[in-house]
Amino acid sequence: MPDNQLEIGKAILSLVVGDITRQDVEAIVNAANTSLMGGGGVDGAIHRAGGPSILEECKRIREESGRCPTGQAVITGGGNLKARFVIHAVGPVWHGGGANEATVLAGAYRNSLQLAAGAGVLSVAFPSISTGAYGYPVALASAIALTTVKDFLRQDSSITEVRFVLFDEHTYDVYRDALKKVGTQLKP
Ligand code: APR
Repeated sequence: MPDNQLEIGKAILSLVVGDITRQDVEAIVNAANTSLMGGGGVDGAIHRAGGPSILEECKRIREESGRCPTGQAVITGGGNLKARFVIHAVGPVWHGGGANEATVLAGAYRNSLQLAAGAGVLSVAFPSISTGAYGYPVALASAIALTTVKDFLRQDSSITEVRFVLFDEHTYDVYRDALKKVGTQLKP
């Protein structure tokens, strides 16, 4: 198994360097904010590539349910993207680690996977949530992200592929090191 992949039950967890808006998977996860009204980074890229229908759906969600709390996620269609769905997850802003950031970040990943499984998708792509504008240290965030996904996939979910799409080589390398550690946790 290459060092950027890990088999977990029937599922494959993999790491790639690339642009999440170009991934050929059934659902991509957005690193959103509580307003759901778009932003920069991944959020800006997904709304630009997906087109206005995604924002229209987000506005309807806002009217019905208000802001999306940090650590939670909502699901919309994929608009012009290859993906059928966009899952808008709100990660925590890093405040130094004493504000329950780790638990909230894990929740953002878990809630995204639950929405994906609920929508019946088999393949999901994640960005590195919270490690850009929200300042979460990548070394800490990657361990939380990969462990949370590993634990979810071991529950025998219907999802058979989870792909982390990292935007630069440094982030990829940090995730690859974290994946190695997660892999050793799996060995009997
Ligand atoms: N594909 C994959 N990864 C990307 C892309 C892309 N097209 N664009 C940026 N990234 C990477 C960043 O390099 C970073 O590693 O996604 C990671 C998350 O960065 P942000 O997009 O800044 O997300 P986050 O740190 O969670 O901050 C969210 O930023 O854009 C606003 O509206 C958003 O308020 C929210 C906040």
